[in-house]
Amino acid sequence: MPSVSNKGKHMPESPIRKLVPFAEKAYKANKTVYHLNIGQPDIKSPEIAMEAVANHHLEILAYTRSEGSQEYREKIAGYYHKNNIPVEAADIIVTTGGSEALLFAMGTIADAGDEIIIPEPFYANYNGFATASDVKIVPVISKIEDNFALPPISEFEKLITPRTKAILICNPGNPTGYLYSKKEIQTLAKIVKKHDLFLVADEVYREFTYDGYQHYSILEEESLAENGIIIDSVSKRYSMCGARIGCLVSKNKQVIATALKFAQARLSPPTFAQIASEAALQTPQSYFDEVIVEYQDRRNTLVAALKAIPGVQVGEPKGAFYCIVQLPIKNSDAFAQWLLEEFEDNGETIMVAPAGGFYSSPGVGLNQVRIAYVLKKESLIRAVEILKIALQKYKD
Ligand SMILES: Cc1ncc(COP(=O)(O)O)c(C=O)c1O
Repeated sequence: MPSVSNKGKHMPESPIRKLVPFAEKAYKANKTVYHLNIGQPDIKSPEIAMEAVANHHLEILAYTRSEGSQEYREKIAGYYHKNNIPVEAADIIVTTGGSEALLFAMGTIADAGDEIIIPEPFYANYNGFATASDVKIVPVISKIEDNFALPPISEFEKLITPRTKAILICNPGNPTGYLYSKKEIQTLAKIVKKHDLFLVADEVYREFTYDGYQHYSILEEESLAENGIIIDSVSKRYSMCGARIGCLVSKNKQVIATALKFAQARLSPPTFAQIASEAALQTPQSYFDEVIVEYQDRRNTLVAALKAIPGVQVGEPKGAFYCIVQLPIKNSDAFAQWLLEEFEDNGETIMVAPAGGFYSSPGVGLNQVRIAYVLKKESLIRAVEILKIALQKYKD
């Protein structure tokens, strides 16, 4: 029998999706499952975006330009200007989700065996994109005790080798909810300038900041014009995960010209979804104001309820809609599976994402889970109550 590639064998399973078969078993057993595992917001997509698709009468559903439609890119540039990010249409390549922007970024800046330093825990799919691109992730550990703040410069400098090509951050962070300060971005800017590296910032949660904190983008930092690459997406901003539209943004002309070649190879991003995403740019600020109030309220409810459980430790998320929760257990993979397969409270259980997959250091995060607060407040309260009861019953 022909065999699959070693690379394929090494592709990691998504820690967020690998428990799906056990969830299906739970549904078959008529259990209600509260999904705390996946970042699929329950917020409605903006009507203006849905209507733009419904009212569009294309005769041919044609390819668009590989870098995305000109009108859309010009409007995205307008959105960035409003956010103090001085980029133009020519600095933007529209991609099939932030996921493709990450793949293009890795392909553009790194050869096989090159290294990218990433504060961990990090968005689990970075592991998959790195494997697909033959890139080595070098983790720098950020700790729950420090609320996952940027590790000291010395920790980064210890890890820089001749093969290091970039530092990659996620801001605000999935899975930590950590929001990097302007000072921390400036610290990173100093490191990448000193060592001539790229700074890739996954800013797909830019709008989701709480307690009055403002997001500070890497491209607000003038010194990063040649070093900075933003990864962006409409998925979470407009609760349009199924549109599959994102973009890669850089002032570095060589980066854009190279990423464009990857974009040309896959021809174009989806046409209808660009129409929806272009219309979504007209979403009024009031939509975001309401969404932020809702998420902040959910976060407050969730974090307070979690902290009230003996032995549970949780970071203080300032952005995005996730938190890492440390539990009084040994192995969160086994615990998450047990929750679905064996446990129930009045016919209900929860699904969580084991945090091991958000680390690349082996054996780290095994007593942690990631929780997404994408459910209504009442559901979150019930879900945490289920977690508390489950922890009382669970034997490692
Ligand atoms: C941090 C982060 N980056 C990128 C993505 C990719 O999103 P998409 O491909 O839907 O734009 C996600 C999705 O959850 C994410 O959480």
